[in-house]
Amino acid sequence: MMNSESVDIYRSAFISHLENKVKLQEPQNLYEPMVYILGLGGKRLRPVLALMTTDLFGGNYEDALDAALTVEVFHNFSLVHDDIMDDAPLRRGKTTVHEKWDINTGILSGDAMLINSYQYLESYPPDVFKKLTSLFSKTAIEVCEGQQFDVDFESRDDVTIPEYLKMIEYKTAVLVAAAMKMGAIIANASEANTNAIYEFGKNLGIAFQLQDDYLDAFGDPKTFGKQVGGDIIENKKTFLYLKALEAAPQDQKEGLMHLYSLKPEDSEAKVSTVKSIFEKSGAVEKTKAEIEAYTQKAFDALTNINMPESNKLVLRQFGESLMGRTV
Ligand code: IPE
Ligand code: IPE
Ligand code: MG
Ligand code: MG
Ligand code: MG
Repeated sequence: MMNSESVDIYRSAFISHLENKVKLQEPQNLYEPMVYILGLGGKRLRPVLALMTTDLFGGNYEDALDAALTVEVFHNFSLVHDDIMDDAPLRRGKTTVHEKWDINTGILSGDAMLINSYQYLESYPPDVFKKLTSLFSKTAIEVCEGQQFDVDFESRDDVTIPEYLKMIEYKTAVLVAAAMKMGAIIANASEANTNAIYEFGKNLGIAFQLQDDYLDAFGDPKTFGKQVGGDIIENKKTFLYLKALEAAPQDQKEGLMHLYSLKPEDSEAKVSTVKSIFEKSGAVEKTKAEIEAYTQKAFDALTNINMPESNKLVLRQFGESLMGRTV
């Protein structure tokens, strides 16, 4: 079961599991936002990768369902808090939790989701539980560090590309990497294999966040599901922005820095000016090239994995398909 149809099988198995485990209960104001955000769907990238990895290493993918739930519930917790921090109105085409309810509800529902995410690991035998929890805790604290860098960078004008890359590795890539490594641990893969699949996931995750930045500016508002231009409004120091600063002529560079020192009431003009600088400066092309480079780096990590070539092909195809995404 190692083709693109298997992705649909993983996804639907995961969704059934989620529906069985996450249910509305009292107090409703704690649980309703959870059921709401988790029910809005999303791509289910991380749980699919966890199940896929267990399968590709010769394990039973159903054994990874609880770990997949851990990762997806944690991801959704991070989104609820991220949307508060980013002042985001839209998530998956719907109103964000803190706008639909309020900020306090978003904080506490998010906290409860974080705690629940750990509880799903309790079903694993002690030795596996130990490995999964240490990896997961290390990852979760890195996500917090990445999120803090992201926010700190909003008000800095001297962020470098290496700093940016570290920030996205932490806020996004390590969770993708951990989802895969957890899948490998559950399949009882060798340490060399679990480390190599982590490298694959990490580089794929970096490519994924670079593309998220690209789509945040240039995605189609009809299908993207988030507020297009949100990163520009919030003065996020994305790869697009940093590359535009590097390449733009002096006057445009100063204009861009000035725009990123403000948060105007009406942001429409800011968003369209910034997007045209991103395009004219060549930053868009450079971002696309970087997405390909990190995807390639992920593929290079497959060399160090001991698994049938046909299984590596599944991972390569999955990586390729991510580059074509519009959501
Ligand atoms: C959004 O993640 C946050 C990022 C790390 C870019 P996804 O793009 O995986 O969001 P969903 O779960 O599919 O909605
Ligand atoms: C979010 O990065 C990463 C985490 C939630 C940890 P973004 O702020 O870019 O994610 P989106 O674009 O809101 O989904
Ligand atoms: Mg955000
Ligand atoms: Mg954010
Ligand atoms: Mg984003």
